Amino acid sequence: MVIVQTIEALEEAKNALTGSIGFVPTMGALHKGHLALIQQAKQENDHLIVSIFVNPTQFLEGEDLDAYPRKEEADIKICKLAGVDILFMPTIDVMYEEDELCIGAPAVRGYILEGEKRPGHFDGMLQVVMKLLNLSGATNAYFGKKDAQQLALITQMVKNYFMDVNIIPCNIVRDDNGLALSSRNVYLEGEEKTRALCISRSLKRATNMIIAGERNTEVIKKEMLSVLEDADQVEYIAIVDREFNAVDNVEIGNTIILVAAWVGKPRLIDNLWI
Ligand code: PAF
Repeated sequence: MVIVQTIEALEEAKNALTGSIGFVPTMGALHKGHLALIQQAKQENDHLIVSIFVNPTQFLEGEDLDAYPRKEEADIKICKLAGVDILFMPTIDVMYEEDELCIGAPAVRGYILEGEKRPGHFDGMLQVVMKLLNLSGATNAYFGKKDAQQLALITQMVKNYFMDVNIIPCNIVRDDNGLALSSRNVYLEGEEKTRALCISRSLKRATNMIIAGERNTEVIKKEMLSVLEDADQVEYIAIVDREFNAVDNVEIGNTIILVAAWVGKPRLIDNLWI
């Protein structure tokens, strides 16, 4: 594995590659969820590039940019063991200049749910993903369904800007208790770890209701809210179609149920694709 920090070194390392490139962009603090993306990318491509970059432009004022978990040494080991060819770990100076041209999230889909709670987050996320996709020269780029809205917006960006890369959605990875894996789970302390399980439990309850024939989204959301009483604050429960339009009825094969809630220090998100 080659570790590169500059654009020049990345270009040079890429010159040695022939065939398809799988790319997994990350902000580090790698866990089994990232590993699943890396393994799938490894399997489906001739070469594998991973990036680790805690992107400042997608953090809002007062968010956890400085505290965001950084585990460089462990991440490098994981990437080596997973058979990564190039690990790109740029600094902020490499990625950004002072007066940048920005791209913006779409006015509707980019400003609901996560976009409403974290205005500006998706602008910064899309800006860096555009850069990383261009730099990696990826044939296929892998993103987790856990960040469902992020995934939808990246897919839209690739379509709207006619970018030559396939965006591959990957399933959510959960721990044995059902908690969706996230780098921010390290913020959970003591009993919060147990309380956080109400989030995946609420999605499980929704699944059971749908299996039993319930389709009305208001009925399902009301029941989910009662399961979420262990959370400190529920920011939203949303039931949308794959285009992120709110729906009155669940349509099998075209629905996503999303939850965002605070449990202790972290704000956690999870979802279920029906
Ligand atoms: O999902 C993430 O970890 C980040 O949003 C991403 C896609 C690496 C961009 O910084």
